[in-house]
Amino acid sequence: MRDNIVLIGFMGSGKSTVGRMLSKQTNKYFIDTDALIESNENCKIRTIFESLGEQYFRQREGELADWLSQNVNNAVVSTGGGMPVFVENIQNIGSCIYLDIGFEQLLARLKNEEFDKRPLFQNIDFARTIYEARVPMYEKYANFKIDAMMAPQEICDKIVALTN
Ligand code: S3P
Repeated sequence: MRDNIVLIGFMGSGKSTVGRMLSKQTNKYFIDTDALIESNENCKIRTIFESLGEQYFRQREGELADWLSQNVNNAVVSTGGGMPVFVENIQNIGSCIYLDIGFEQLLARLKNEEFDKRPLFQNIDFARTIYEARVPMYEKYANFKIDAMMAPQEICDKIVALTN
């Protein structure tokens, strides 16, 4: 397994915030898979979904997961919420940390603009359905599970302790 720390979990669970903080603390480089896909495609995730479709996005995610597992080491990788579900084995990228948060807690925490940029979070009932379907997948691929309601710094400290 590669020496990367991979953050997995549902949309809005804090993967990017924690990932950026953790990368500074661990002296690893930070990679956000959504940001990398947007940069590579020169297009926002929302536009990719609207103009090219979810299938196209999942293919790009799959290629990126392969590339990360073959080429990247010593990084903190924040993944899109669907990555563990749609790629073959997310653990090929590194040690997976599941940021666990209840659906209602998520709703209470997310701001309007954070819904706007997420095509699969436009309808709460739909989002709840995929949340429930995905939790077992996050659990399956998690090397460690952490309560995402803790403060980001506390989460980082736990991850450092767990992965050292
Ligand atoms: C998705 C999550 C998003 C992004 C895309 C699809 C998903 O990432 O990859 O909108 O299927 O859960 P975040 O988890 O960073 O919001």
